[in-house]
Amino acid sequence: MKTVGLTYDLKTDYKFKDGDPLDANAEFDHPTTVDVISKAIAANGFKVKKIGNAVNLLEKMDNLGVDIVFNISEGLTGRNRESQVPILLEMAGVPFVGADALTLGLTLDKIMAKKIFIAEGIPTPKFFEVNSAEALASHDHCKFPLIVKPRFEGSSKGLSESSRVANTRELKKQVDFITKTYKQPALVEEFISGQEFTVAIVGNKCPEIMPVVQIKIDGKLKLNNKFYTFARITSDRLEYVCPAKITQELKKKLDDLALRVYRSVECRDFGRVDFRVGNDGKPYVLEINPLPSLSTEDVFMLIANNIGITYEQMLGKILNSALIRNGLN
Ligand SMILES: Nc1ncnc2c1ncn2[C@@H]1O[C@H](COP(=O)(O)OP(=O)(O)OP(=O)(O)O)[C@@H](O)[C@H]1O
Ligand SMILES: [Mg+2]
Repeated sequence: MKTVGLTYDLKTDYKFKDGDPLDANAEFDHPTTVDVISKAIAANGFKVKKIGNAVNLLEKMDNLGVDIVFNISEGLTGRNRESQVPILLEMAGVPFVGADALTLGLTLDKIMAKKIFIAEGIPTPKFFEVNSAEALASHDHCKFPLIVKPRFEGSSKGLSESSRVANTRELKKQVDFITKTYKQPALVEEFISGQEFTVAIVGNKCPEIMPVVQIKIDGKLKLNNKFYTFARITSDRLEYVCPAKITQELKKKLDDLALRVYRSVECRDFGRVDFRVGNDGKPYVLEINPLPSLSTEDVFMLIANNIGITYEQMLGKILNSALIRNGLN
């Protein structure tokens, strides 16, 4: 029987510091998610060994006693935080599920990822970067309304109703908030009105594109100015619809783009690509998540149900992709 190590960051381990925003621990997992994943791996016929976060991994590195690691660790700060566990595992010569350190750093930094998309001809909203409110310059290529996001965060950190800005005064205020609170540059993008989708992919040589999931907010699919905020994740105002009720034409566009994005940043085993589709029907890639949430509240559970498999089987599929890739199956 093979042993699968599990690396993760727990919300309960995070110690809030003075000045931390409320969403400081948003990327980390709930202990129940770790238990659910652990049970799901065991249900696929593996022994599971919980390792913990990067510091715990460092302590145990000489004697891990695992065949492969299932990594969902988010790391603490900075654009390389998700790369910390993978680089340690790479040093230890231990195979792991999911993207490597380079891909994780590249995609957590949304601006670096957008540069790849642009080089590959993948549509992404027009953008600029700004380091502080004082440094704001003219941005004629980007038209209001705009959205202001932290350059390297996930889980909708830093996003609230004020993130969508309609004029220079609002923009300046939001850039000031993001750069000071999250201590990183702000990514300012053209705001895409319309609809929102996310597409998951599993596998490597012949990746399987999962059914498109659509985001519904306040009971509406036509989102216009509504978007995903940190507050909405935890409210019942947000729903996922799977499969999305869209034309074959749009589905094909999203599927093709999702796969191109997955390959452009060399994702492995699994990933999830987020899109907005403008009212003109044009899709824009917002980002790719090579380490998407596997919480049962999130989209992977829904997708599993939709394709007629259990959550455990979905995790088995992801793990199996990594085992095959490493010649361990
Ligand atoms: N250019 C945009 N136009 C319209 N809405 C946007 C845009 N960029 C981001 N959003 C909204 O903000 C949400 C979060 O943005 P994004 O996916 O870039 O960040 P994230 O925090 O990494 O996401 P996740 O919650 O998937 O980890 C999107 O799901 C979308 O609702
Ligand atoms: Mg996203």
